[in-house]
Amino acid sequence: MSACPSAGFEQLICDGLSEPGWVVVPDFLDRGTTTAIEAMLRTRWESGALRPAGIGRGRTFQVRPEIRSDQVLWVDNEAPPAPLEAYLQRMEGLRRVLNEQLFLGLHEYECHLTTYPRGSFYRRHLDQFADQARRQISTIFYLNPNWRETDGGALRIETDQGIHSVLPEAGTLVAFRAADFWHEVRRARRLRLSVTGWYLSRPLLP
Ligand code: OGA
Ligand code: MN
Repeated sequence: MSACPSAGFEQLICDGLSEPGWVVVPDFLDRGTTTAIEAMLRTRWESGALRPAGIGRGRTFQVRPEIRSDQVLWVDNEAPPAPLEAYLQRMEGLRRVLNEQLFLGLHEYECHLTTYPRGSFYRRHLDQFADQARRQISTIFYLNPNWRETDGGALRIETDQGIHSVLPEAGTLVAFRAADFWHEVRRARRLRLSVTGWYLSRPLLP
C-alpha cells in the first residue's frame, strides 16, 4: 500500500521507460489543472508570444518549416506561469523516482509550451541533438479536450512492435527514451496544444 496517491503514475512510467522504453499515461493531471494550463497557453498564443520552432541548437539552429511548423515558448523554471506549477512539481517528483529506480542521472527538466497551428506537423526525427546527448527522456503533455482521429495531429512512435499512434488528448502524457525512438507529428487539422519537455543529464564540464 502506498501513502502517496500519485505513486501509481510514477511506477507506471518507470516500468514503461525501463521496458519497452516508452509509455502513454492518460489523466496524468486532474481536469481542472489541465484546463488551466490549456487556457494559459491559448492566451499566450493569441497574444503572439510563441515563436516558430527550429531544428538544431546554438549555431546550427535553423527554422525549417518544411521539417517542423510548430511554435514554441520556453518555460522559465525560476518563474513558471502559475498554472504550470503543479505540472512541474509532478515532473520533479518523477525525476527523483526515475533516478532512484532506473539510475538515469537526470539532472533537470526543461520544457516549452507548444502549438501546432492548423496544417502544421513535425517530420520523422530523433530528439537528441547530433552534437550533444543531454536529452535522456522526452515527454509530451497534451491539452486539447475531445481530440478526434479526424483532427489529425497524431504522434507516431516507431517501436519494436510497429508504429504506435497516440492521439493528443487533454491529460495524456507520453514519455520515451529520447535516443531510441524515431517519431513524427502528423499534420494537425486543428490548433494542437501541448507542453513538450526533456529530462537532461548533467552538463559536461568544460
Ligand atoms: C517534439 C515532438 C511530439 C508531439 O517536439 O520533438 O516530437 O506529440 N513532439 O508533440
Ligand atoms: Mn520529438
